[in-house]
Amino acid sequence: MKKYDICVVGAGYVGLVTGACLAEIGHRVVCVDSDPKKLKALKAGRIPIHEPGLGEVFRRVARSGRLSFAASVVEGLRFKGRRAEVVFIAVGTTPRHDGSADLSAVEAVAETIAKNIDSYTVVVDKSTVPVETGEWVSRTIQRFNKSGTPYDVVSNPEFLSEGSAVRDFMQPDRVILGVTSKRAETLMREVYAPLKAVVLVTDLKSAELIKHASNSFLATKISYINAVANLCEKVGADVKLVAQGMGLDRRIGPMFLNAGLGFGGFCFPKDLEAFYWISKQKGYDFQLLKSVKEINEHQKGWIARKIEEKLWNLEGKTVAMLGLAFKPDTDDMRFAPSVDVAHKLKSRGVNIRAFDPVAMERAKELPEFAGVKFAKDEYDALKGADALAVVTEWPRFKALDLKRVKRLMRTPVVLDARNLFDPAAMRELGFDYAGVGRP
Ligand SMILES: NC(=O)c1ccc[n+]([C@@H]2O[C@H](COP(=O)([O-])OP(=O)(O)OC[C@H]3O[C@@H](n4cnc5c(N)ncnc54)[C@H](O)[C@@H]3O)[C@@H](O)[C@H]2O)c1
Repeated sequence: MKKYDICVVGAGYVGLVTGACLAEIGHRVVCVDSDPKKLKALKAGRIPIHEPGLGEVFRRVARSGRLSFAASVVEGLRFKGRRAEVVFIAVGTTPRHDGSADLSAVEAVAETIAKNIDSYTVVVDKSTVPVETGEWVSRTIQRFNKSGTPYDVVSNPEFLSEGSAVRDFMQPDRVILGVTSKRAETLMREVYAPLKAVVLVTDLKSAELIKHASNSFLATKISYINAVANLCEKVGADVKLVAQGMGLDRRIGPMFLNAGLGFGGFCFPKDLEAFYWISKQKGYDFQLLKSVKEINEHQKGWIARKIEEKLWNLEGKTVAMLGLAFKPDTDDMRFAPSVDVAHKLKSRGVNIRAFDPVAMERAKELPEFAGVKFAKDEYDALKGADALAVVTEWPRFKALDLKRVKRLMRTPVVLDARNLFDPAAMRELGFDYAGVGRP
């Protein structure tokens, strides 16, 4: 197997996992990040994010010397006398106010690469970007590459999910390679060869669209079942059974059919927006995506709506929020529905006692959580609460001692926005219970 010298620019949730896993399969990798705090932690062997399994891989490859860190792209391109043959761009592509993706970091990195290469280099876009970004990256490199050094741009979107990122990277459903030359295709196939994954080779634009279309499709599936849940609530049907019945159809499948509080995180909300924006920009008004977003916005208000039905006056009442991260097994708070819940409840005069196993430090940094009391565990959060709101489906919340929960609360009201509990069993225990789309 051919081993490559690889530079990964951006050492966040995607870049760090990509860098560590590429080193794990034998390549020599240097990860570059412009955040000095993050870099200091990484150089000291500390991982600044919560990602199951990443620690072991990280320690192994760092010990072997195959994973290093650098403060600048220039340093990363020529690290300890070795020249990067492949450069992955994995910087953030945060949304602007109009929903479009901010690609200034991608452009800045492309310019620096162009000015500092002196032999054939493959520049791989791993960040999620709108269609035609690859062409822009190529044009940028061409403009600043005064020496005329040969290069290729590849679109290689990442599909990992936070919480299972290492496994997703090492055992992907597919590796997408959007290429413009056979040379780049051959090299990229060699980079990924140890994974023995299904590889789909496409043109640049199709690869970029695969990523936006996939995430938007998954978001659509979530909004679809949430819309069905709303109808279930109106007629007294059970969305869990409806989803089960739908999911048994192999053409539909059971995944992403859990009704709840809507989707969040760094990918679905922003990718949906960016996909809508770029479609419109190109002359197609992708209305379906607009509805998906509207349903999601409505769904994020489920707790605030239900709590009023259950508690009548909200001023001065206390709600125990269990879970803050947008999903279990991550500390990522970006676009988490909990942010919306906290904002809405606080604006109605509710006192919040919150607990999350790993995301509280990040939540404390957000203005929406000012004044929120952070508890030391689930039971501490529940002391004297007028209602319990389940916001994130951490498995440990499912295992709560419900009799103890009831004793600790002022009034046993449960708003189960992730359908963790069985409604009949909860009522049997004496809870005033509401689940999403459940009778
Ligand atoms: N998080 C996910 O689950 C996920 C999954 C698939 C794809 N993506 C996509 O991958 C990209 C990165 O996402 P992320 O979650 O890793 O973001 P992140 O914010 O965790 O990481 C981005 C990193 O890039 C660094 N950075 C920014 N500009 C830089 C520059 N000019 N030079 C060096 N470093 C720079 C930042 O300091 C940060 O550490 C985004 O486009 C995202 O949509 C994310």
